[in-house]
Amino acid sequence: MQNRNSASARDAKYMIHGYCDLATQRNKGPSVISGGKGIFVYDENGTPFLEGAAGMWCTAFGFGDEELIQAAVEQLHRLPYYHTLAYKSVNPAIDLSERLSEIVPIDEAKVHFALSGSEANDFLIKFTRYYNNALGREKKKKIISRVNGFHGATIGAASLTGIPVSHEAFDLPIPGIVHVSEPNWLHNSQPGESKTEYASRLAHELEDIILREGPDTIAGFIAEPITGAGGVIIPPDTYYEKIQKVLDSYDIMFFADEVICGFGRTGNMWGCETMGIRPNTMTLAKALTSAYQPLSALVIDKEFYSGIEMGCNKIGYFGHGTTYGGHPVACAVALKVIELFEQRNMLSHIAQVSKHFKSKIMEFKDHPLVGDVRCKGLLGAIELAEDKKRGKFFSPDGLIAKRVKDRAEERYKLIFRQAPCGDTCAFSPPLIINEEEITEMFKRFRKALDEVSSELHQEGVIEL
Ligand SMILES: Cc1ncc(COP(=O)(O)O)c(C=O)c1O
Repeated sequence: MQNRNSASARDAKYMIHGYCDLATQRNKGPSVISGGKGIFVYDENGTPFLEGAAGMWCTAFGFGDEELIQAAVEQLHRLPYYHTLAYKSVNPAIDLSERLSEIVPIDEAKVHFALSGSEANDFLIKFTRYYNNALGREKKKKIISRVNGFHGATIGAASLTGIPVSHEAFDLPIPGIVHVSEPNWLHNSQPGESKTEYASRLAHELEDIILREGPDTIAGFIAEPITGAGGVIIPPDTYYEKIQKVLDSYDIMFFADEVICGFGRTGNMWGCETMGIRPNTMTLAKALTSAYQPLSALVIDKEFYSGIEMGCNKIGYFGHGTTYGGHPVACAVALKVIELFEQRNMLSHIAQVSKHFKSKIMEFKDHPLVGDVRCKGLLGAIELAEDKKRGKFFSPDGLIAKRVKDRAEERYKLIFRQAPCGDTCAFSPPLIINEEEITEMFKRFRKALDEVSSELHQEGVIEL
């Protein structure tokens, strides 16, 4: 760390951060990002870093988009705040709920606003309870979630999350959350098992668990269409079809967590479209505002909504809401995001550049340190392996990927995410990225990977 008054030193002194080792953070301090333009962010010295992860998978339109900034500024002048509680509302929230209802793959969808993906998923748990209480199904409250799925950090959302460090020492998960296997064929299939057979096995496992728990106790199944933080896991083709068949036969809702996949990330507007999911609810956040403002939306189908209203009729009052839900500035930015998506033909842009993204990322398949490469749209992952010929992966502590990530960042000024599960390097650049920038991103990555690879060889960890 530099001098005691540097931003980094003051940060280390006063702030508590997440998803890091606290002592390392306190001793080393963070790298402080002070600016951004396009797909680049700048540190305090003005050094540009290529943001291969769009921050936290979220800045779809990159940094410094004037139209998004203007949308926020104009709304700040018009009405910087008003709430949407107790029979009040604000125009941007009304307009946005209407637009979202029009574009999601759920008929007559209703929208509830919150501030983060975590909060929206937490509210989903509350709504599920309320709904089933209204229907007199007091036992039907459990939610099935998947190992390695990530759904957020609040007590409820972290419980839905299937990543051990999100639970450890936080006394989580809360009761009523049941975890099933993730659809990770690469690591969890049996010898000789095809992807189709594997998907069938997971559907059977799901059914066995439903029967074990009692179908009358299970309300919903939550999943990211493609698992993001858990390592960019793309389920086998027939997986969701089989899972939905099981859910349908036990009257269990499908809760799609579109926080990463939504808004074009996987090539279509929604991950549900890419993966063939028929959702009852969708959780939206991140790219909803291109992360320029904190906002999330819980979108639910009309049956779910009418159950909730019925419950409220019994009680006479819906005892739920937040000060900032439907914040006018955040909603104004989200409206602009949706407008720009159309105006700038973002889906055709993504269709175009994702071909290049795929061809570039697939070039890593032959790299000696790479065990697997996967991608969909502008979401991709390179998983490192100790001995690719024998299919031996590194122990899933992410240490080698972290080394590549640190090298890429320090020496080649490239930021990407190291997935907390397994030695995976995840790429989710701003959706505005162009072909030349994609080439540059993977060029920088290759330099870091080659360097770490030859060091590991010298250290006797891998054979080349
Ligand atoms: C799929 C998914 N759901 C929910 C969340 C939680 O969102 P937030 O960090 O806005 O609370 C995340 C965050 O990364 C996520 O990736």
